[in-house]
Amino acid sequence: MSHNPGPSTSVSEAIATRRSIRAYTDRPVDPALLRAILEKAQRSPSGGNVQPWMVSVVTGASLAALIAKVGERQAMGIMGLQPEYQIYPEPLADPWMARRYGVAHAMYAALGIAREDRDARAKAMAANFTGFGAPVVLFVHCPKFMGPPQWADMGIWLQSVMLLLREAGLDSCPQEAWSVYGKTVRDHLGLDDEQIIYSGLAIGWRDTDAPVNNFPVDRAPLNEVVSWHE
Ligand SMILES: Cc1cc2nc3c(=O)[nH]c(=O)nc-3n(C[C@H](O)[C@H](O)[C@H](O)COP(=O)(O)O)c2cc1C
Repeated sequence: MSHNPGPSTSVSEAIATRRSIRAYTDRPVDPALLRAILEKAQRSPSGGNVQPWMVSVVTGASLAALIAKVGERQAMGIMGLQPEYQIYPEPLADPWMARRYGVAHAMYAALGIAREDRDARAKAMAANFTGFGAPVVLFVHCPKFMGPPQWADMGIWLQSVMLLLREAGLDSCPQEAWSVYGKTVRDHLGLDDEQIIYSGLAIGWRDTDAPVNNFPVDRAPLNEVVSWHE
């Protein structure tokens, strides 16, 4: 059931073919191509044109070193955690919780992992901290004093980058998981504690055959999220 969508030639196609890619080939990403994409993404809108996103691109030896450092924190178990922010509200009620579980169950099913196999699930989760084998992981961060509107701006920027990557035939996976080792990431990037790590973005060439890249991820029907007022 492998699927190689190739480069997208319209925004609709880029949106339709983007999915979170959690397995990559060894093919490197041309730094000039990535620079051109980030240059284009600078046209992203932001409230007041504040452009709060700050970006650190990590590849090669630097990425390997970061993965090793985060690996050391992971080995410490819960003592190693350094969460930048709470990723999900607690408790998270339905329908949101059901959606969150829905994609997790679909992914574990694609990987052949049984619901009760906690070790295998933890291992699949830990793949986040290798960037899923992508040759590039970028981090989007901003000063800590920025508020929800500026965080939304960072999300808009991320989507611009993800769609431009699709236009170039590349793929990605946004990764807020890195924020649970925020201080290690910040120290590695030479950022002070006044910055906050919002999300990573793994970038590379899609391994089209990997089951983890081929399970269906549904969306709520429009009438669950849109109301029309005349
Ligand atoms: C800001 C953001 C952070 C995310 N963080 C992670 C992450 O840490 N690890 C992961 O595997 N997926 C992460 N995802 C991917 C979501 O799980 C995914 O977008 C969602 O399930 C919809 O699936 P799709 O992207 O394949 O369409 C993140 C997505 C966004 C937008």
